[in-house]
Amino acid sequence: MEKELKALKTLADCQAFHAKYLGKSGEITKQLQGLKDIEPSKRATRGAELNILRRETEEKLFKIQHDIEAAEANAKLMNDPLIDVTNPLTYTARPSGPGVTPGGLHPITQVIREVEEIFAGMGFIIEDGPEIATEYECFDALNCPQEHPARDMQDTFWLSDGRCLRTQTSAWQNHMMKKYGPEFRAICPGRVFRNEALDARHENTFFQCEGMMIGKDISIANLIYFMKAALTAVFKKDINIRLRPGYFPFVEPGFELDASCVFCKSGEHCPVCKSSGWVEFCGCGMIHPNVLREGGIDPTKYQGFAFGFGITRLAMLKYDLNDCRWFNSGNLEFLQGGTK
Ligand code: PHE
Repeated sequence: MEKELKALKTLADCQAFHAKYLGKSGEITKQLQGLKDIEPSKRATRGAELNILRRETEEKLFKIQHDIEAAEANAKLMNDPLIDVTNPLTYTARPSGPGVTPGGLHPITQVIREVEEIFAGMGFIIEDGPEIATEYECFDALNCPQEHPARDMQDTFWLSDGRCLRTQTSAWQNHMMKKYGPEFRAICPGRVFRNEALDARHENTFFQCEGMMIGKDISIANLIYFMKAALTAVFKKDINIRLRPGYFPFVEPGFELDASCVFCKSGEHCPVCKSSGWVEFCGCGMIHPNVLREGGIDPTKYQGFAFGFGITRLAMLKYDLNDCRWFNSGNLEFLQGGTK
């Protein structure tokens, strides 16, 4: 099968490969259907093997398909005499000329892309959850039933149909578990909403990034490793982290994760960390068994960690900003990097 995958050159090849192995009467599908006929003691192991094979094959095929599509789109652009790919107007679709400065990506978008690249490099899938969540996704599935006092930690915007604007990217955890099963790692960056009184540190609309890794023998050591590696990559300097006990209903044990302050200069007072050397960075912990169970995963066999950090907070640290309201202000001077 590996050889066949390597030989795929066109989208039609990919379709044929899909039909042969993954389609309705594909080989892997048939074997999965045949599970019911094999000896019950072997069924679970064989089932797990087949599911992994199916997922890995799907992922490989998807990547090849994506590369072929990109190459085809590129070739089309390069060969079209009406499109000049060296002209910024072609791809920014913005006016240029004297006195007009070209546009750029919003600082939050830049940070999200950077974070995505770093985590993708460590094998994480990038997920995109909806901004409107059901009450189940945002709370109940996260071990936070109605009347749970922890619901008060997040003042929620409710919609008239009973759904809400997600208060946390954790609202996508349940979906990710159901989609990827008991062994995966994924992040889900996006916008979240809370009914906050606005000040320099609080916005009603801000950005978070959820992360999950589930599998066999996953421990807090893995969490520490990935957070340290990610932060070191974002700040391009060696970052230390420490964990303090913290409460979130969907993790047990739960932690507040602090990162070593990037602004401290020796001998000077640091206003960012108040000279403590640490800045509070995110909530995290080992996923609560109830949350795993709710996602269809057996907590006696699998464990996982989850974290949720503020992209907005990260952007403030990265660009040394002391007011989060700039991000949604639409202020051009700020967006062009000219103000603090
Ligand atoms: N969702 C939590 C918050 O918004 C952060 C968190 C995510 C904590 C995952 C633990 C695990 O505060």
